[in-house]
Amino acid sequence: MRYSADSDDDYGVTRRGKKQRGKFRYDETTYEKRRRRQPRLAPEDANSDTDGLPEGDRWSTWDQSTPTERGPLPHPDWLVTELAAVDTELGVLKTGKEADVHLLRRGVPETDRSCLLAAKRYRDASHRMFHRDAGYLEGRRTRESRVNRAAAGRTSFGRKAIAGQWAHAEFGALCQLHGLGVPVPYPAQITGTEILLEFIGDDDGTAAPRLAETRPGTAELADLWDQLTEALVTLASGGLAHGDLSPYNLLVHHGRLVMIDLPQMIDVISNPNGSQFLERDARNVASWFASRGHPGADPERLTALLSEEARLR
Ligand SMILES: Nc1ncnc2c1ncn2[C@@H]1O[C@H](COP(=O)(O)OP(=O)(O)OP(=O)(O)O)[C@@H](O)[C@H]1O
Ligand SMILES: [Mg+2]
Repeated sequence: MRYSADSDDDYGVTRRGKKQRGKFRYDETTYEKRRRRQPRLAPEDANSDTDGLPEGDRWSTWDQSTPTERGPLPHPDWLVTELAAVDTELGVLKTGKEADVHLLRRGVPETDRSCLLAAKRYRDASHRMFHRDAGYLEGRRTRESRVNRAAAGRTSFGRKAIAGQWAHAEFGALCQLHGLGVPVPYPAQITGTEILLEFIGDDDGTAAPRLAETRPGTAELADLWDQLTEALVTLASGGLAHGDLSPYNLLVHHGRLVMIDLPQMIDVISNPNGSQFLERDARNVASWFASRGHPGADPERLTALLSEEARLR
């Protein structure tokens, strides 16, 4: 076979330029091969609709989400829902173990309508650094058996499906908590493996620090503790626990505490390890506050309070 390397095809396309692309050529094998090599759009790849836009931009994906894939009503005023809007990538906020978080500006060109969004993009299982899929998925079989089989076999479709389930789980958790009044980023929308969230930070794109990175004074520490306790009591009385709570999954924006990173949120009643999750969450945060010198922060007392709220004891 004459053409084995990727490069031959690609060079061919580059050299011949756009004009001839797709025209019948004397070399039919190459033509066929090139057609086969056209990338196929998976649903979430539709995110990359960039026709006529500068590199790095895409059209707003708002119209790609159904009403249930959009955040709770009423949509906040700051959220740009105009279809003429363009999403501009401003950079990576953080690469995490299971997802990367990017900063986006969604704005209507030639107007001053714009907002900042955090885009959390779940990686498929082959690109993640640790896996909680097995245990997690046991309780959440999807009704589509094709998805189940693919997920069990870890085909590339299956891996994408699992990443999509994580994204869905987090989007659902954020919508639920937003409804309960727990301070979480407003979940704007989900498309495939990407969730778009209210950006917690300043207008110039400076992200709020994680609690672990802050050095609050006595009064601020006490205030943050009160905010945290109130949020956790709301969760517990709804029968919920964060499931991976730590000073790294809490942001502090000008004194306001915001809880993030919720794909594994736990139903403490139905989950057989519910009370352990709740206790671990309480310990992780209470011991951080205690180590910073907050006198009211006691892991045992917080665990007891939350267990009672959740009617676990
Ligand atoms: N809505 C947001 N606004 C501002 N920054 C955010 C937002 N969401 C996430 N971040 C930043 O991205 C980081 C990673 O987000 P998150 O914890 O949700 O993802 P993760 O993949 O679980 O990361 P990790 O493995 O580090 O826990 C956060 O610690 C925070 O700094
Ligand atoms: Mg995190």
